[in-house]
Amino acid sequence: MTESGLQSQAELVAQVEALLRQGKNVYQPLYNYPHGQSIPPLRRCDDRCAAVHAALGPDITGKRLLDVGCSLGYNTLYFVDRGMVGHGIDILERNVALCRMMQCFTPGEVRFEQAALTHSLVDDIAPGTYDVAFFFSVLHHIIETHGLTHVQELMRTVLEKIPVIFVELALRSETPPPGYTWDAHLPENALTLFETCGASEITLIGHFPTHVGPVTRPLYRITVRADG
Ligand SMILES: C[S@@+](CC[C@H](N)C(=O)[O-])C[C@H]1O[C@@H](n2cnc3c(N)ncnc32)[C@H](O)[C@@H]1O
Repeated sequence: MTESGLQSQAELVAQVEALLRQGKNVYQPLYNYPHGQSIPPLRRCDDRCAAVHAALGPDITGKRLLDVGCSLGYNTLYFVDRGMVGHGIDILERNVALCRMMQCFTPGEVRFEQAALTHSLVDDIAPGTYDVAFFFSVLHHIIETHGLTHVQELMRTVLEKIPVIFVELALRSETPPPGYTWDAHLPENALTLFETCGASEITLIGHFPTHVGPVTRPLYRITVRADG
């Protein structure tokens, strides 16, 4: 490598490290990042990605994915690496900046945007834009700030526009880290969230450990039936 190449690589590593230190936490591993990660991630992602991949089936090339609350981009990039077209959104500027840096290490079509999951964002999705959407461990944050009914309505509209969604749900039985109170806002039955979505098929595809405690989180595939 040339001297200027080494210099720009060193600059990139320094920028990544500075961004990692900027946030409250480092939730995910950095996908395909070859320079190591000085702050270890709070949790792994490969376990959930492998289970979701198995549930999607082998033929995912060209399928369009929306990953809501994409964090550092691991889950989006895992599927872009396997042929999907990715669109990751996250509310935090720092997360999106890291995602955009990480996308250089994975070939394929992907874009990351800073955006919040809101009614206007969902209303603006034209049906047919996405084949699949992920909502992994993000909805409890929105329930905490906007309430259960708000998120039930969001999910009903999402399912009118996107035929298959995967959701990982935090549970009321968890003990959140200090400073978080989302447990008190969650329903006893996590699937209450989808009670108003009409005719849908809900399939449990696994339970996954988190950094929060011993309680594992369920991950579901939710589809609207053709006759729904
Ligand atoms: C607990 S992390 C989960 C990250 C990732 N989905 C996963 O499971 O590996 C929640 C993520 O959602 C983002 N987030 C929180 N509220 C959001 C909102 N209203 N719209 C979009 N992203 C949000 C946070 O910035 C964070 O990156």
